[in-house]
Amino acid sequence: MNLRFKNYWRKSSLKKNRDGDFLLEHIKKNKPKNFLEIGVFHGVTSRNVCELLKSLHGENFKFTGIDLFEKDQMILDKEVAPKTKFSNPFKNIFYNYISRTNPYSFKSVSNLLRKFKYNVNIIKGDSNIILKDMSEKLFDYVFLDGGHSYKTVKNDLNNLLPVITNNGIVICDDYNLSYAPGVKKAIDEFTKINNFSIKILHSRFAEITK
Ligand SMILES: C[S@@+](CC[C@H](N)C(=O)[O-])C[C@H]1O[C@@H](n2cnc3c(N)ncnc32)[C@H](O)[C@@H]1O
Repeated sequence: MNLRFKNYWRKSSLKKNRDGDFLLEHIKKNKPKNFLEIGVFHGVTSRNVCELLKSLHGENFKFTGIDLFEKDQMILDKEVAPKTKFSNPFKNIFYNYISRTNPYSFKSVSNLLRKFKYNVNIIKGDSNIILKDMSEKLFDYVFLDGGHSYKTVKNDLNNLLPVITNNGIVICDDYNLSYAPGVKKAIDEFTKINNFSIKILHSRFAEITK
């Protein structure tokens, strides 16, 4: 089974043939069954991960995704707002005038993942609040790619402490992003305070383990 990252005619932080394939390989090696993605955006990575988990485990996996699915709130919170406009004009025409759907929405992402509807739980809201209130946090693999401010990353990581102490893996995207230095600062502080191990993978992902 050799799954390649696909973009499903949407936008994603990750690119096919590059960091997308790298992340899928890393997930394939670790074979998680209870996956969390913080920051789903258009759902591209979510769909790729679900395809992979299904090929690894059949029906026996869970995927949880959290996103604000809103731009305004993020701007108010001084987050790095995702660029929702496509550089390919045909995609703008398709989404605005033909399918008339917003790919950055709970409805559209749920639709993209509908073939996994019994395995998937997409939650709209602020990860800092949702994770704090979540009683079942024992994900074995977390892809942290939500808010990129120092405060948001720090809170997300603190909420994910039980994942790491229970031998789970947290992969943080954009460890070295020049315009979001708070990501690196929060990760470095969190790993130092808790004495966790950190490995930088593919020059962009920080892998945090016990
Ligand atoms: C870089 S994009 C995620 C890209 C996606 N992981 C992918 O691979 O295509 C960041 C996402 O995080 C979401 N986000 C930002 N702050 C958030 C927060 N506090 N809680 C939940 N989602 C948040 C944004 O709405 C945006 O969709």
